[in-house]
Amino acid sequence: MDKTLACLIDEIIQAHHEYLRQELPSILELLNKMVKLEGERQPKWNALKAVFIQFFIETNTHLTQEENLLFPMIRKIEEPISIVDLGQVQALVAILEKEHETLDALMIEMATLTKEIRVNQTGSSNAQIIFDKLHQLEIDMEIHAHKEDHVLFPQALSRSRKSNF
Ligand SMILES: [Fe+2]
Ligand SMILES: [Fe+2]
Repeated sequence: MDKTLACLIDEIIQAHHEYLRQELPSILELLNKMVKLEGERQPKWNALKAVFIQFFIETNTHLTQEENLLFPMIRKIEEPISIVDLGQVQALVAILEKEHETLDALMIEMATLTKEIRVNQTGSSNAQIIFDKLHQLEIDMEIHAHKEDHVLFPQALSRSRKSNF
């Protein structure tokens, strides 16, 4: 049997939103340390931190929009008598999909900078933890965006279309 949309939303929040809320501050803390230690010798750490902060801010806004606006609307679709504003769902989905693209572009920028830093960075366990955490973040973001872009959003749109007839 197909998962309910509410169930999928709970899973996304627990597996991915919680992960981001826990990991992003901890990565930022590590980057702050690294910039203090190595920023002068290796200015790319400063560039990486700047892109990461932008990613952090954009992600916070994005999660809030999903949890406070779109997800409650999607949960309503499954209620026995549901009146959902299809236009509103479509507009929000379009905004959030665009934000996924922005976040993806920032992830690519971070991956490029990380690669450049790696070449000149030796023997720092702190740096290695950051590289590992950013790699994990990239994998998680891919799964997270896939669940929303290819499963949750299309199903929500198709069911809200039906509930409007
Ligand atoms: Fe999400
Ligand atoms: Fe999202």
